[in-house]
Amino acid sequence: MNAVGLKCEKLDKIKRVVISAEDIARKTAEAGSLISREYEGKPLLLVSILKGAYVFLADLSRQISIPCEIGFMAAESYGEGTTSSGDVKITLDLKQDISEYHVIIVEDIVDSGRTLSKIVEMLKKREPLSLKVLTLLDKPERRAVNFKPDYTLFTIPDFFAVGYGLDCGEYYRNLPYIAEYDPN
Ligand code: IMP
Ligand code: MG
Repeated sequence: MNAVGLKCEKLDKIKRVVISAEDIARKTAEAGSLISREYEGKPLLLVSILKGAYVFLADLSRQISIPCEIGFMAAESYGEGTTSSGDVKITLDLKQDISEYHVIIVEDIVDSGRTLSKIVEMLKKREPLSLKVLTLLDKPERRAVNFKPDYTLFTIPDFFAVGYGLDCGEYYRNLPYIAEYDPN
């Protein structure tokens, strides 16, 4: 067993738990209440960016008490490691015609901002009733393009985060907390 209490050699790379499962749950419940109030009576579509946001979307959607639909997109901007390629590719697009919805993009983390700038630009052209971005994590120090999410649950400094959907080389998504990855 290592410091975070799970039996897996991959967890030797976990430096410390940065955001606990309890803190994530508390902030997610607050965000769910806020969305339920602000979008009451409106056709709401939550758009999740795979794969990183799948855990957050699952928890957030269950904290929303008004009717809503879910859609998925997938984008790739990173290889198997921790550095951005800067090149954003949309690998899965929405099925819904978003011109009939108020859309909230649900993202795991905004880093350089390139992925979301590209997705926002793309979705705006389809003329949704409104478009907002909600992110679990924001690393503003790392921004390479001008981009600001509408809602942020946690602002973090520049370290590589894993857990709660976020991966490094496809591992760690199943951790129930956000941890700092140790690349050394
Ligand atoms: P951006 O385009 O640089 O803002 O990066 C967006 C995507 O990169 C996120 O949706 C994540 O999938 C991934 N990413 C950025 N920073 C991290 C991190 O600290 N841990 C895990 N994935 C990250
Ligand atoms: Mg990722």
